[in-house]
Order: sequence, then structure tokens, then C-alpha cells
Amino acid sequence: MKIGIGEGLHSLPLGARLGLTGLCIVLLGGLFASFQHMKNHYADRDAKPEFSTDDVVSAYHGLDSPAPLKVAIESGHPETLPQEQRDILLSWLTGDRVLMKYDSEDWSQVPADILDEYCLSCHTRDLAEQQGIPALEYFDDIKPLVISRKVERTPDEILAASTHAHALSMSIQGIVVLFLALLTAWPTKGISLLCALMGLGLVGDIGGWWLARYSASFVTMIMVCGAAYSGVQTLLLGGIIWDTWLGRGSSKGHDQS
Ligand code: HEC
Repeated sequence: MKIGIGEGLHSLPLGARLGLTGLCIVLLGGLFASFQHMKNHYADRDAKPEFSTDDVVSAYHGLDSPAPLKVAIESGHPETLPQEQRDILLSWLTGDRVLMKYDSEDWSQVPADILDEYCLSCHTRDLAEQQGIPALEYFDDIKPLVISRKVERTPDEILAASTHAHALSMSIQGIVVLFLALLTAWPTKGISLLCALMGLGLVGDIGGWWLARYSASFVTMIMVCGAAYSGVQTLLLGGIIWDTWLGRGSSKGHDQS
């Protein structure tokens, strides 16, 4: 038997509907697993544990975010800081294990003591809050200000390998879902709009991987387009399963095989 236009997937024989449902459920599971995998895979790219936009920037563009404390000191702030102490602070901030060496006696003066002596006249918690500047009074205040983050983007060869795997599989997957969606009894106009979002979403997603090498602003495009592709695909798969069992298409010609 054949599916006629407008009859929907509901008109398929039972065996085909069972098989189709199983495959759609596995595909939905796969989409969910990809999302989890992506989060785990990228979460610590930017040298901070939680998943954030910076992780995607790190992966596709590279990240160069120097420690705010280092930026301030390099720029000559505060004018009252003598050159010797400035050099010690810079040597501390550009070295390794910055957090551990806050109290270190590697230099002629301990970094923590320099901060107390030369910064606290303006940067206590109370004063800082009044002026809207960062506090430098306790270790907890200092921590977020001393870590420089520099991450090289994913090398070209690895991105090419990833494009090769994803471009081939994700497009075929999208084409299959697109055709199945067109075979449902849903109005073709609505389905067509969703198909456009899914297809253009994938172009923007994978295209964005390469464009983001030139400008970090394409990272937003990767995220929005990637979400459009997977979000719409999830929606369509849900619709396909719905139509297979509960669709309002005619069920004449069922042979229940
Ligand atoms: C005389 C007061 C004064 C002293 C002393 C002082 N600061 Fe500041 N600091 C400020 C003010 C005011 C600002 C905000 C305006 C600006 O950025 O110059 C600021 C801003 C900063 C910022 C934030 C810059 C940004 O871009 O947000 C950092 C970091 C900083 N100070 C570090 C230090 C350190 C480290 C010391 C000691 C070595 C220090 N400051 C000593 C007054 C001071």
C-alpha cells in the first residue's frame, strides 16, 4: 500500500508504524544525548567549570581574557604603587598557580601584603561597594580577578574532521525528518515553515563553526541556529509519532500487518 497525500502516517500498516515509532524514539534519545554530550564536552573549555557562552567562544574562536587585576596594574593603576611592588604583582599574576601563591614568600614582599598596603585605602569592601569598584580586601574578593584565561580555538584539522562527520549525518537526519513530516496529515504550510527553520538552522550552525574563527560574534549564530535545528527536529519528531498513532488522516486500507 502507499501513503496518499493528506492521509498521514496513521494510514501505514501496524508493523511500519511500530518500526517508525521505535526509530523516531531512538532519534529523539540521540538528540538528547548530543545535547548532554555537548555540555560535558565543552563545559570546561574556558577554564571555568560551568557551561557558558565563553565555552563556545573558546572552542570556535579562542578566548583571550586577561585577569582584571593584571590589566589594571599593567595600565599603571594606582599611580601610588612603586615600581618594585608593581613588578612583584605582575610576576605573581603572570606566573603559574596564581591562587596558591597569593600568600607566597617567593618575592621580597608577599603579594597579599602588597594588596593590603597599596590598595585597601580605596578597595575595602565598604568603599568598593560605595564606588562600584571591585573589593580587594579578602581572598574571596581577589579570586575572580586574578585568573587570566587564554584558550586556543579548536585546530582546523579537528574542526574539519568534526564538520565531515556532522555535516553528513545531521543533514541526512534532517532530510529524513523533513520528508516524514511532509507525509503526515498536518497542514503542509505549517510543516514547510518548520522545515525551513530546521534546514537553515543547520546551515547557520555548521557555517557558524567556520565563520566564528574570524569573529566571535558568529558564536551567537552557532547557538541560535543549532537550537533551531535540534529544537525544530524534536518538535517534528513528536509530531510524526503523534500522527502515526493519533493522526486524523483516513485509515482506510489498513491491512494491520
Ligand atoms: C586612590 C584610590 C585607589 C587605590 C589606592 C587603588 N585603586 Fe584600584 N581603583 C580605584 C578607582 C577609583 C577605580 C575605578 C576607576 C578606574 O578604573 O580607575 C579602581 C579600579 C580598579 C580596578 C578595576 C578596573 C576595571 O577595569 O574595572 C582594579 C582591578 C583595581 N582598581 C585594582 C587595584 C589594585 C590592585 C590596587 C593596589 C595595588 C588599587 N587598585 C589601588 C581607586 C584606587
